[in-house]
Amino acid sequence: MSIRVAGIVGSLREGSLNKGLLRAAAELAPAGMEIEIYLRLGEIPPYNDDVFQKGDPEPVADLKNFIGGADALLISTPEYNYGVPGVLKNAIDWASRPAGKSVLNRKPAAIMGCSPGLGGTIRAQHSLRQSFVFTETHVMSQPEIKIPSAAPLFDASAKLTDENTSKNSVSPTNQNSHAALTVINLIR
Ligand SMILES: Cc1cc2nc3c(=O)[nH]c(=O)nc-3n(C[C@H](O)[C@H](O)[C@H](O)COP(=O)(O)O)c2cc1C
Repeated sequence: MSIRVAGIVGSLREGSLNKGLLRAAAELAPAGMEIEIYLRLGEIPPYNDDVFQKGDPEPVADLKNFIGGADALLISTPEYNYGVPGVLKNAIDWASRPAGKSVLNRKPAAIMGCSPGLGGTIRAQHSLRQSFVFTETHVMSQPEIKIPSAAPLFDASAKLTDENTSKNSVSPTNQNSHAALTVINLIR
């Protein structure tokens, strides 16, 4: 059975380190698992419940199909001002409707992230976990993949080049710290 993981990045930057981290996870994914990265986050309009009541705009429907059609969700995000970047929170707000029967309900999920600073995105990750209580998203409590001082670990094209990080944080050979693998273990 092939497992499809929906990968979402909390940064729209072309050279996003968190996108690079997710790409590394996709490249290192074990046989039988495919991690697809969502590329249309920037097209999601600001959440408006009046608009939702009339029907999802096309980019929102696309996001919901992307998450709904996946076996699991893997989020890689920086923190912005100690919290979840607005584009990501906004996407989660859309995906969380209709409440109680949204594509996030009971979806297995894992969170990871990196940052050039020392915080390693942990505050955004904690905040996301709180949102996932309300959406009843089955987010893994461990591993916590939060990689600080991350800039030198990537090359100019945001490709993860640091072997230690690949091996110990993202590689499926380290079963305890591979977020996507943990998701697989949850749903198998
Ligand atoms: C609006 C904004 C707020 C930020 N707030 C934080 C923060 O609270 N903590 C932190 O460690 N870094 C913060 N940063 C720095 C980001 O972690 C850094 O830009 C990171 O590279 C963004 O992730 P990305 O490379 O995936 O785009 C902030 C950056 C921006 C643009």
